[in-house]
Amino acid sequence: MDKDILSLPEDTEVCLCEGVTLGEILEAIKNGACDIDAIGDATGAGTVCGLCRSREDDPDEEREIHLDEILEVAKEKGLCPDNNG
Ligand code: FES
Repeated sequence: MDKDILSLPEDTEVCLCEGVTLGEILEAIKNGACDIDAIGDATGAGTVCGLCRSREDDPDEEREIHLDEILEVAKEKGLCPDNNG
């Protein structure tokens, strides 16, 4: 990763539609939301325009960071509990 997502401030807004911050998303991941749809169920992030879901969903890079990037880093750092899916 060229960007250290986890060093961004926790109040960085990831999902502008639902006003969901990086801190809230990390909290949801720690609580077992280990894919994008589960994060959406837990926080509402990614359920409106969808731009914040991934770079593929955001071709004009209107969002600074995306849910799939946060998930990837969170999994690398072992934040995602091992819950058999
Ligand atoms: S910015 Fe997250 S759904 Fe629109």
